[in-house]
Amino acid sequence: MSNSTIIDGKAFAEALRERIATATAALKDAHGLVPGLAVVLVGEDPASQVYVRNKGKAAEAAGITARDHRLDAATTQEKLLALVDRLNKDPSVHGILVQLPVPDQIDPNAVIDGIAPAKDVDGFHVINTGRLATGQMDGPDAAMVPCTPLGCRMMLEDRLGDLSGLNAVVLGRSNIVGKPMAALLTQANCTVTIAHSRTKDLPDVCRRADILVAAVGRPQMVQGDWIKPGATVIDVGINRVAAPTEDEPDKMRLVGDVDFDAAVKIAGAITPVPGGVGPMTIACLLANTVTAACRQNGIEPPKL
Ligand code: GUN
Repeated sequence: MSNSTIIDGKAFAEALRERIATATAALKDAHGLVPGLAVVLVGEDPASQVYVRNKGKAAEAAGITARDHRLDAATTQEKLLALVDRLNKDPSVHGILVQLPVPDQIDPNAVIDGIAPAKDVDGFHVINTGRLATGQMDGPDAAMVPCTPLGCRMMLEDRLGDLSGLNAVVLGRSNIVGKPMAALLTQANCTVTIAHSRTKDLPDVCRRADILVAAVGRPQMVQGDWIKPGATVIDVGINRVAAPTEDEPDKMRLVGDVDFDAAVKIAGAITPVPGGVGPMTIACLLANTVTAACRQNGIEPPKL
């Protein structure tokens, strides 16, 4: 029997996207401002193509102009940087996202460094990671915060209210999720532990967590008995695993980094995969684009 609340990220994201659409309508009325997002895709990776299409559709539905820039897989770094530079200078573009991974001939750090920090809606530029790490969160030069951890924090605050004093364990130390998630939880006055594959007594460390954020990219690694009864579990993992049936021997399914069926019996609340963190990431990209557009035009960003 399950006694957990299942956190409905899909519904949460839909509500956020509606608030964004209301905010963009107001910005257009009051200031004639339409936020613009440029999405750059190099190559033909099928998963990236799906992501990019979804980002574009979600943006348009929320009153954000989305422009796709597709470059072929053999594009040089120089050519990509020239495009980024053009977008940096285009006043109708407020957010720039270069879909990762990029082909081998291109250094992703050089590309991220080339994006104007104010337009870096992924929050990957070192200026933004530095501002996040030092707590520069307000005003025209505030950090742009990476979308996935931003969405996780929104769901945590919705569920728990004030996070002060809670023990938070972030499992995973990536630049995209683990490190910025730890910075946000530190700012929210949690006691934060960053754990990873080399952590000693990992199950014990996780069992101390009031908040457990799993972002390691290992299917169902977190077992039910790693979870403190009543804890809030945020599962960032999106792993494709084989799930063959008689009719469909090649069938795959998506699972998180947490063994959901076991965890749901112990946690107080948990995000499912799919339908948890994933939809929030795109909604937060839209929120960041609106925030960026306001800051670039001297307008106080709406509280979303
Ligand atoms: N590839 C997978 N996730 C992301 C993301 O959040 N941003 C970018 N730019 N590329 C990605």
